[in-house]
Amino acid sequence: MTKLSVVQDTWVPLPEQEATIEERLNEILSSYQGRDDELIPIMQQVQQQFGYLPEPVIKQIARFLHLPDITIFGVATFYAQFKLVPTGRNIIRVCRGTACHVRGVARILQELENQLGVKPGETTADREYSLETVACFGACALSPIMVLDDKVHGKMTTQKVRSILDATGSSSELKDG
Ligand code: FES
Repeated sequence: MTKLSVVQDTWVPLPEQEATIEERLNEILSSYQGRDDELIPIMQQVQQQFGYLPEPVIKQIARFLHLPDITIFGVATFYAQFKLVPTGRNIIRVCRGTACHVRGVARILQELENQLGVKPGETTADREYSLETVACFGACALSPIMVLDDKVHGKMTTQKVRSILDATGSSSELKDG
């Protein structure tokens, strides 16, 4: 069985990538004045641009705002909207609320973990999928629920997991057999 490994927490950009990152970041920062109340909007814009907050970028934002790096890391880890590691092109969110739990969401999550080779909070090595859990989507009548890239899939079964992954076009690379 081909198992995908997990993207590690540390990512070292190549020199040419660093140059691109710096250029794109400078472009973002050029529309700000360097006030510390600009921190969240800058982080949001950077996340939108890069898909996450690369460490070199965090350090540069800190210098720009005259804040310690740890302040930026603290904000990034406090708010769920910010990511410190790259996320997958497809984000799968599984509900772990009570109604979904009662209706067997654990089996859905287990099937996803088996198919993707990752645990919640992780991303496949090919960066195709990130797997996350959510407290409750507020659509309990459809439980158990999983959401793939903002599309809600209700009354999930393990068979549906496979067909949904197939429909994204890369399931064949996920698992042999
Ligand atoms: S418990 Fe899953 S949507 Fe509410």
